[in-house]
Amino acid sequence: MYIVQIASECAPVIKAGGLGDVVYGLTRELEIRGHTVEIILPKYDCMRYDHIWGLHYAYCDLMVPWYGGEIKCQVHCGWVHGRLCFFIEPQSDDLFFNRGVYYGCADDTMRFAFFSKAALQFLQHTGKRPDVLHCHDWQTGLVPVLLYEIYQYHGMGHVRVCYTIHNFKHQGIAGAEILQATGLNRPDHYFQYDRLQDNFNPFALNLMKGGIVYSNFVNTVSPHHAWEAHHGEFGYGLGHTLHVHQGKFGGILNGIDYDVWNPEIDRYIPHPYTSDDLTGKAKNKKALRDRLLLRDEDKPLIAYVGRLDQQKGMHLVHHAIYYSLYRNAQFVLLGSATEPGINNWFWHEKNFLNNNPDVHLELGFNEELSHLIYAGADMIVVPSNFEPCGLTQMIGLKYGTVPIVRGVGGLINTVFDRDYDMTHPSEERNGYVFYQTDNQALESAMDRAIGLWSYYPEEFEKLVLQGMSYDYSWNHPGTDYLAVYEHIRHK
Ligand code: ADP
Ligand code: GLC
Repeated sequence: MYIVQIASECAPVIKAGGLGDVVYGLTRELEIRGHTVEIILPKYDCMRYDHIWGLHYAYCDLMVPWYGGEIKCQVHCGWVHGRLCFFIEPQSDDLFFNRGVYYGCADDTMRFAFFSKAALQFLQHTGKRPDVLHCHDWQTGLVPVLLYEIYQYHGMGHVRVCYTIHNFKHQGIAGAEILQATGLNRPDHYFQYDRLQDNFNPFALNLMKGGIVYSNFVNTVSPHHAWEAHHGEFGYGLGHTLHVHQGKFGGILNGIDYDVWNPEIDRYIPHPYTSDDLTGKAKNKKALRDRLLLRDEDKPLIAYVGRLDQQKGMHLVHHAIYYSLYRNAQFVLLGSATEPGINNWFWHEKNFLNNNPDVHLELGFNEELSHLIYAGADMIVVPSNFEPCGLTQMIGLKYGTVPIVRGVGGLINTVFDRDYDMTHPSEERNGYVFYQTDNQALESAMDRAIGLWSYYPEEFEKLVLQGMSYDYSWNHPGTDYLAVYEHIRHK
């Protein structure tokens, strides 16, 4: 099968969070199974060029219709660790992707509407005719709309779309000018409740809703989150739209790429290890403590790696730091923040804890350090408010780092409480789960984890090994996505 992924991220060259990991890892899995996959991305000025091999011009004069005129684009092509990627660079005064950041600009919806249009124009113009387009998140929600309304009449009639929603919180709420810009010329047609009209604001367009309505299949990234989005609050207003389209909506659990996230072959960690011999893990813990100047005393080391965002349960992340210190444990946080309020919070805490030898807080995106943290920590906390899938708990499991998670979304589908899980026999349980959002709920899960580490080290090691034995690779999700692709292809 010939599959083209259209996305705003692909790790490690463009990665703000898990979306990048997923686009890369799924592509690799599909290729291993013999399929042809290409990825279309924006060419950002701030992407990691050192991870692209053989970057060259693939197409110099792609003319993309825009506001009744045209914008010229250059399309570059290169390999990201073996995956073939096309990078679209508009030659306009707006310099849509030369902003020093991936997201967070006032004209984000316009930038990614342009990207969606340019990606289709590129496929149409170069005669590329994939069987399936796989689009991701609101940034590419217009792709199926434009395909159905315009490009199917330009030789792309047989192309089918799978649309994956990684985060319902960000839906791409846009003004009517997007329609005019992209050539969707009948505003009344699109400003309908059953099309792109936002469910809250009748004067706004919702690009993610467009993706849901116009795609052949829609999924989010875990079965439990599919249920939450459909029936609960986490659809952020799109629950009814999902209900209308429930026949083509489901949840497919993400995988992680064991070629990237694997303590046996990880080139970022000084001491490789496997579940047969965990001495390497203990050495990595020491290396992590040395690197971060933590007190050199064997205490349980608890970590948080992730975006610093309300989604991630910031008040509980905060409490986890102080409660670890109270319980005589060490804490390491590696976080990236975009909101000024959270940045201020971080610097306040950092200054306050400056002289404490049992805690290290690091702000910024640091791929290499994240690997050492997964390898060196004993436990990883993921206290999210909502979590469509979550990769950090799965990475933690692979590295023998016991997850302590809140029971929402994909966290429920991947972590099974050592003491209380009712669905798995005790030898298949792999972490700790709490449900409420108050500090006490988190404390009780941390108490159980720290208690086991401190007083029953053999039992703790058993839990570590049980976690390491899980297969959260792309093997199963790869099969699931291929079944979806096959299904929509023959419709
Ligand atoms: P989300 O996509 O919501 O941010 P996930 O758990 O799905 O959360 O994926 C997060 C990915 O991003 C993981 O690979 C994690 O290691 C990585 N990551 C998050 N924040 C950082 C950071 N500050 N530095 C390095 N890696 C990070
Ligand atoms: C989103 C979600 C996260 C998920 C990731 C990859 O950013 O917040 O839960 O794991 O996408 O699908």
